[in-house]
Amino acid sequence: MSKHVFILTGAGISAESGLGTFRDKHGEGIWARFDPMELATPQAFARDPKRVLAFYDARRRNLLEAKPNAAHVALARLERELAGRGGELTLVTQNIDDLHERAGSKRVLHMHGELLKARCQNCDAVPVWPGDLTVEDACPACESAGALRPDVVWFGEMPLHLDDIDRALRDADLFVAIGTSGAVYPAAGFVAEARAYGVPTCEINLEAADNAYCFDEARYGPASETVPAWVEEKLAS
Ligand code: OAD
Repeated sequence: MSKHVFILTGAGISAESGLGTFRDKHGEGIWARFDPMELATPQAFARDPKRVLAFYDARRRNLLEAKPNAAHVALARLERELAGRGGELTLVTQNIDDLHERAGSKRVLHMHGELLKARCQNCDAVPVWPGDLTVEDACPACESAGALRPDVVWFGEMPLHLDDIDRALRDADLFVAIGTSGAVYPAAGFVAEARAYGVPTCEINLEAADNAYCFDEARYGPASETVPAWVEEKLAS
């Protein structure tokens, strides 16, 4: 059995928890209804912070009503059982929700940041922020007002944890991408990196991702069914 498993998750793993995905083949994703250039760039925030904050407030409220599904729970189990067998799971998510943590995952690398945190542009503090965020709010650390933004990575900004991710890809003996469209880099390029390191690769998705041709193996279906089945199989092997 693989002992160092690298898993990359995307919006598809949280879809059955009621959080929308960004893009799908039927044009119904969040970015088909909202323009990301107006809501998810540093320029958009500078131009119209209230509009950007309102978008993230709505997503935060939605998240607080959502619950982890069987796919999140299965990955938390995989982390525990691998650790019990002397192995390790590196769980990297593009998701800004906290459903992996609520399902019991202990170590999650949020490469696109976290919705339930804010970031102070004055002192770099990252306070936990479960409520709405306004342009008047003061930073709990430096007390400056109006300097807080959502702790999420916007288009044109550098994703987080890239050094840890590269190290883990190098050490992995299995790479699995779950519920991600393979449309946004650098995450969409991790599969090619894994292959270059000689790591076997598997896609688990509702339908073929844009980079599906890069994977050695694919399993298609809803994550709440495919992920628990795959974890069961891995742990039995
Ligand atoms: P996308 O919305 O681009 O892709 C979602 C993927 O999940 C698609 O491939 C769907 O087929 C799949 N999917 C949908 N429902 C599913 C289900 N029930 N089970 C399994 N798979 C399902 O989401 P990401 O790839 O995560 O970045 O998007 C990457 C980044 O683009 C996001 O992190 C976000 C976005 O813009 C930023 O905001 C910086």
